[in-house]
Amino acid sequence: MERDIRVRKIKDGTVIDHITAGQALNVLRILNLPSSSGATVTVAMNVPSRKAGVKDIVKVEGRELRSEEVDRIALLAPEATINIVRNYRVVEKKKVAIPQMVEGVLGCANPNCITHFEPVKPRFTVESRKPIRLRCHYCERIMCEAEIAKQF
Ligand code: CTP
Ligand code: ZN
Repeated sequence: MERDIRVRKIKDGTVIDHITAGQALNVLRILNLPSSSGATVTVAMNVPSRKAGVKDIVKVEGRELRSEEVDRIALLAPEATINIVRNYRVVEKKKVAIPQMVEGVLGCANPNCITHFEPVKPRFTVESRKPIRLRCHYCERIMCEAEIAKQF
């Protein structure tokens, strides 16, 4: 109960819950929030959680985030859940999922990769999800979890 009072409920919007503790600000960065559109954003960090010890929470009012936007979050917080809220009720709840292809979010860790010299968008295929490993579409170099986390 006390958990629920700590950050008040929102009327309409998106609640990103069960974010790996410490990743809330990176989640905001990945979503380009707060945005100039002016949506109210609430961040809670190190909130006690039954499942994970502590977690972070991000609430975005007045916006329902699309799957393509939120799936990027899985790179940082694979346990995160997305709750769509309408008129104070959770009408949709889903887990984030690492997309098949990661494009335009990360750069290649290989300094000799063509993506650093030509105007091509870095693109990665998912080699493994747990732990996360991504393969560069251009140079085939594998990026590990630590190299991905370093970019946020
Ligand atoms: N929430 C909110 N505003 C609402 C409804 C829910 O901010 N009007 C938040 C809750 O505080 C919670 C998250 O959205 O952080 C999910 O809500 P709910 O499904 O009611 O909570 P739980 O059942 O605890 O979720 P889970 O099983 O995913 O842990
Ligand atoms: Zn590369």
